[in-house]
Amino acid sequence: MLELKRLHYQPATANKPILQGISLKANSGHPILIAGASGSGKTTLVEVISGLTNPQKGIIYWQKVPIKANKRRWLCGVVFQFPERYFLGLTVSQELRLGHRRLSGKDQANALHKVGLSKIDLRKAPEQLSGGQQRRLAIAVQLLRRPSVLLLDEPTAGLDWSVRGEIIDLLTKIAKEQVLIVVTHEPELFKNLLSDVYRLEEGQLKPVTTLN
Ligand SMILES: Nc1ncnc2c1ncn2[C@@H]1O[C@H](COP(=O)(O)OP(=O)(O)OP(=O)(O)O)[C@@H](O)[C@H]1O
Ligand SMILES: [Mg+2]
Repeated sequence: MLELKRLHYQPATANKPILQGISLKANSGHPILIAGASGSGKTTLVEVISGLTNPQKGIIYWQKVPIKANKRRWLCGVVFQFPERYFLGLTVSQELRLGHRRLSGKDQANALHKVGLSKIDLRKAPEQLSGGQQRRLAIAVQLLRRPSVLLLDEPTAGLDWSVRGEIIDLLTKIAKEQVLIVVTHEPELFKNLLSDVYRLEEGQLKPVTTLN
């Protein structure tokens, strides 16, 4: 279980705190959806949880033990908004092997299978894939790191309707195995994910009961 307790965060360059007492418990099998308007602090919260930055106040626990930023970076996989902008590999295979030089053909195939990309040509450039396939590849790259916590920042941004549905189906599958936190400004798209929904507003998380 991942637990956030009373997190406060104000970047040095900001004139007011962005997160003001964030508490949350997240378990595998129970995806968390965090909705919030543009500028409400969703991406900032992802950065804090994943250890890219440290809150000034509050504690983050993993399995009831406080966990520092450097360890959180190992614990968490993050798929940022528009992850396809950051592909580095010249081919799909290279992209999967970044950081995993000894990744076997079988492991590559498994990772691609998990995200529904079994039939893809590994020699293709990531940029040649469709928008939805690129998003799946970015998720596969993170899954290879076997993160205990997967954080997705606006996973449906910029995708068309049919592809959005596919990504949400994929997330439903992934959520069974690990802690999954999705942040979005389009929560109504995630109705089928059966998640606990919160709204980030004025630096605080408020539970949401209906998604309409
Ligand atoms: N390093 C920083 N310095 C100053 N202000 C910052 C910093 N990081 C974020 N902010 C401010 O904090 C607020 C929250 O930003 P954040 O990117 O987390 O919002 P968001 O909810 O992800 O928005 P969007 O839906 O547009 O992606 C914004 O007003 C932003 O300008
Ligand atoms: Mg954002």
